[in-house]
Amino acid sequence: MNVVWRMNVYPLFIWTILIGNARAKMDAYFTKMDCINHMPGLMQNVSCRLDRKSHVTSSFSVEFALANTVKDVNGAYIFGVKRGSTVSNYTTMEINFCEALEALYSNYLLKMIADELRRVANFPLHCPFKKNIQFYIKDFTIDTKIIPSYVPEINFVSDCTLIVSQKKAFQLILYGQVSRRKAGR
Ligand SMILES: *[C@@H]1O[C@H](CO)[C@@H](O)[C@H](O)[C@H]1NC(C)=O
Ligand SMILES: *[C@@H]1O[C@H](CO)[C@@H](O)[C@H](O)[C@H]1NC(C)=O
Repeated sequence: MNVVWRMNVYPLFIWTILIGNARAKMDAYFTKMDCINHMPGLMQNVSCRLDRKSHVTSSFSVEFALANTVKDVNGAYIFGVKRGSTVSNYTTMEINFCEALEALYSNYLLKMIADELRRVANFPLHCPFKKNIQFYIKDFTIDTKIIPSYVPEINFVSDCTLIVSQKKAFQLILYGQVSRRKAGR
C-alpha cells in the first residue's frame, strides 16, 4: 500500500535533490498506469484510475484494503528513463517501508512531500498497516513547480513493487512524460 505513495515520492525527491528547486516552465504528466495485483488474497477491493484532465495534466488514484494486518512491508522501487525503446534504470532501491516511514518524518524535504501526500491520501503514519481499511490516494498530480526548466524532456517509468513476506504483493507502474511547456499555456 505504501508502495503507492513511495513510488511518487522518489521521482519528486530525486528531482528536488539533484536539480535544486528552481522554478520551471515544464509540464509533467502520466500517460499510462498499470496495476498488477500479485496477491489478490491480501490486496482486496483494488481500484486504479488515471485521469487526463487535459493534454498536459493528469492525476492518478489508487485504492485498496488489506485482508490481513501487515507488520513488515518492503518495496522495490525503480525509476527509469526511456530513450527510444530502451529504458535505463535511473535509480533502483529497496525500501523497508516501516523504516522509511520513520525517516519520512525526520527529513525536512521528505516531510514536505509527506505533507503534500497527506492532502490527497489517508497516509498511514505508523506500521503495522491495519486490515479492512480502505487506503487511498486520490488525484495525485505531479507538482511541476519543483521541476526546473533545464531538466531534459524525458519519458519515464516509475515502477513500485510492494513486497510482503518476501513475495511480490502489488505493483504500480506509471508511465509519464516531462516536456517543455509550449507558449501560451
Ligand atoms: C531495469 O529494472 C528492471 C526490473 O528490475 C529490469 O528488468 C531491467 O533489466 C533493468 N534495466 C536495465 C537497463 O538495467
Ligand atoms: C471489500 O469490500 C467488500 C464490500 O464492500 C467488504 O465487505 C470487504 O470487507 C472489503 N474487504 C476488505 C479487506 O476490506
